[in-house]
Amino acid sequence: MTHSKYRTHWIGDLETLALESDVTLAGWVHRVRDLGGITFVELRDRSGIIQLVFDSAGDAAALRNEWVITVSGTLREREMKNPSIRMGDREVVVSTLQLISTSETPVFPISDDGHVDENLRLKYRYLELRKPAQFARFELRHRVAQCIRRCLDRHGFIEVETPILTKSTPEGARDYLVPSRVNPGEFFALPQSPQLFKQLLMVSGFERYFQIAKCFRDEDLRADRQPEFTQLDLEMSFVTQSDVIGLVTELLREVFTVAGRQFPNEIPTITYAESMDKYGCDRPDLRFGMELVNLESVFGASGFKVFADIVAGGGTISGILVPGGANVLSRKVQDELLASVAPMGIRGLSWFHVTPEGLTGPAVKFLSDAETNELIKITHASIGDTLVVIAHPQYRTAKEALGKIRLEIARRMNWVSGPDRLVWVVDFPLFEPGPDGEPSAVHHPFTAPHPDDVDRLKADPLSVRSVAYDIVWNGTEIGGGSIRISDSELQHTIFELLKLSDSDINAKFGFFVDALTFGAPPHGGLAIGLDRLIMMLADAASIRDVIAFPKTTTASCPLTDAPSRVDDTQLNELHIQCLK
Ligand code: AMO
Repeated sequence: MTHSKYRTHWIGDLETLALESDVTLAGWVHRVRDLGGITFVELRDRSGIIQLVFDSAGDAAALRNEWVITVSGTLREREMKNPSIRMGDREVVVSTLQLISTSETPVFPISDDGHVDENLRLKYRYLELRKPAQFARFELRHRVAQCIRRCLDRHGFIEVETPILTKSTPEGARDYLVPSRVNPGEFFALPQSPQLFKQLLMVSGFERYFQIAKCFRDEDLRADRQPEFTQLDLEMSFVTQSDVIGLVTELLREVFTVAGRQFPNEIPTITYAESMDKYGCDRPDLRFGMELVNLESVFGASGFKVFADIVAGGGTISGILVPGGANVLSRKVQDELLASVAPMGIRGLSWFHVTPEGLTGPAVKFLSDAETNELIKITHASIGDTLVVIAHPQYRTAKEALGKIRLEIARRMNWVSGPDRLVWVVDFPLFEPGPDGEPSAVHHPFTAPHPDDVDRLKADPLSVRSVAYDIVWNGTEIGGGSIRISDSELQHTIFELLKLSDSDINAKFGFFVDALTFGAPPHGGLAIGLDRLIMMLADAASIRDVIAFPKTTTASCPLTDAPSRVDDTQLNELHIQCLK
């Protein structure tokens, strides 16, 4: 509905409207230019910007940026066309102008994109959101959400809301707590995800659930993390991992299409073990090569003692081949790369340049001809390439450090571009060693162990894989999920391995373990970080760009000044005293 007292058309409609049509438009003054007697005004609504012409300066000359007006006039072809902007070939010649509301001078211009401090932008976020590029992101977000709803509805999913005031959910971050007034000393936790509730809905026989759900996690923030974020959360009964993966792949295909993006023809599935081995991380960026190569076989009997000792001690030697690296990996860059992995415990990197005379580099003098030949053969190196090698007693440290270097080199060489690449990473370990060496859950404790590994649960828990999967887009984890434990005894065993006592289990998830005893179907699901997905679909630099009113990196809101102090009466009602 565009026809109202204030407008007959959106400005965007004028792009295809017949010239000479009469129109009434409403919106904000984007820019005013006074060219000696003729005033040009750009009028903006959320659908576009059009030039208005006022024959006699009159009231128009008094207009200022961001005032709200409505105008009536005739759509004409411009004499002086501007082909570089949308609707640069048309204008509206105004016959009547009505001022609806004036504006203070905006604290930053809406009509240009100069640098503005983020705190100021967030304090006046409602002004920043007036920028057409900002609105476009939220329109995209809306279209994606609608597409998700349509697709899941077609597949028999129903949308169900789950509580916000609830009990702690174990997603691994700190909880946001809400004190209870009527139950002194007791607290709700805001959900880190709807995990337990969606599983309960499966026990209820809902079969296919989804929700575009708010989640709350008190964790260190980064460009792709917010304390309050949105997940597309879904769960299905009587399915296997491949059913969930198949459905989510189809959903993502539709989402990419709606967002005008080319969906990759092929989405490979790789195991966690393979991902660590080849990319040094569990969210590999497949837009470029430089896979990590295992080099222990080359250096087992090396004259280079550092390498030989690492191999003898069961450690890891891994390398990457940087095509054409000899020209770009200067000494300075090498030092910077080493500095970037030093905090991970890496004390040195070995560099080998492939020249017409053979390998060069500080360690070459310790290597036999056979070794250098084998090194070149196994890495498929050619003249001009460079090899970076890490040797470390710990497999994970070596791989993760080299994975980081792989990404950093690709970034510096401008290789991180090209078609989008998605990949499913599967077979994550069920547990990882916690700070005390004891198993702690990699995902959450409701993740099913891999059926082939269940026998080893008690004897060798750290070797057990899970039926968990992540979807990774260009090196960013956009979603993850698992097949769940639907057997209360197995769930109990997992809690025991996590060293949760019976009273802990009862206090934390008693209600949930209880539910599993009342006929739980096999079930599994996944959650996609919706903000992250939109951020990537919109090619935005930060997750904050696709959240209407985001928090800063210190988890505060400059607009509302939240969090803020509350008065003593409120605290007393909540039975809370602040220490400071
Ligand atoms: P997980 O913790 O992997 O899984 O979260 C799923 C996805 O949510 C996004 N995400 C975030 N986005 C923005 N800010 C954050 N702080 C943040 N934390 C996570 C990521 C991530 O891939 N209950 C399980 C899902 C399941 O097993 O079904 C869960 O929440 O994109």
